[in-house]
Amino acid sequence: MTNREQALAGKVALVTGAGRGIGRAIAIAYAGAGAAVCCAARTRAQIEAVAAEIEAAGGHAFALTTEVSDPASVERTVAETAARFGGLDILVINAGVSPSKSDVADSDAAAWNRTIAINLTGAYLCARAAIPHLKARGGGKIITVGSGLGHRGTAGSSAYSVSKAGLWMLTHVLGMELRGDNISVNELIPGPVNTAMTAASPTGEPIDWDGEWFKEPEDVAPLALFLATAPDGGPTAQSFSLMRRDG
Ligand SMILES: NC(=O)c1ccc[n+]([C@@H]2O[C@H](COP(=O)([O-])OP(=O)(O)OC[C@H]3O[C@@H](n4cnc5c(N)ncnc54)[C@H](OP(=O)(O)O)[C@@H]3O)[C@@H](O)[C@H]2O)c1
Repeated sequence: MTNREQALAGKVALVTGAGRGIGRAIAIAYAGAGAAVCCAARTRAQIEAVAAEIEAAGGHAFALTTEVSDPASVERTVAETAARFGGLDILVINAGVSPSKSDVADSDAAAWNRTIAINLTGAYLCARAAIPHLKARGGGKIITVGSGLGHRGTAGSSAYSVSKAGLWMLTHVLGMELRGDNISVNELIPGPVNTAMTAASPTGEPIDWDGEWFKEPEDVAPLALFLATAPDGGPTAQSFSLMRRDG
């Protein structure tokens, strides 16, 4: 293996939402670069399949069912990851949901709250649980998977756009809070990706991506690797985008 392939040797990563889509691609890429990876999400069969795929390729991984909106579940997952692999170096806050489109006037309050609870409060809970472990290692990385909608929004997407806008501000504030601890916190904006989330178009109509790069989950992995392997004291409180337009 080349040095680049082993750039994460000795590192421990926790990837939320690693059962499919973008999280799965990041977990596999990190394991391929030498990291031991905890794959966390709710659907046991999916995360176990990803962990098994990593192990079959000679990597190190295990699966933990996790509900990111539940503080006890998140604390348990972070603690078990650190116990299993001897610490934690990289947290990828990727788990997320996108509710059906509806204007605020027609929206369902329970769906709104659930989106905020998973995409925003879940991110807060994951970061809060991980920080003591990252500090114990003398540094580390937190990568949040945001969205262009969190920077520019669009009609009919209030819950998702607000959750991602909050996630971006959480990223920025965490970056400032943890700068002195050698922990960098950055947002990765994937732009449109071919996953279960984008397949679930409420109307069933093909989505018009307006000239955007509609990519495969594996296309997100190089930027996720760049952020995970950036030098200590490198960029923090920044947003990195794979989009073609602003945000
Ligand atoms: N696809 C895109 O075009 C796109 C664009 C911009 C940003 N993003 C962001 O990228 C991230 C990944 O999205 P994706 O497209 O890969 O979607 P996806 O294929 O639906 O995957 C989402 C992952 O999050 C997990 N998850 C959802 N709710 C959870 C919860 N409450 N607790 C724990 N895990 C949970 C899911 O597993 P379970 O359901 O089994 O829990 C799944 O593993 C999201 O944050 C999304 O907002 C996606």
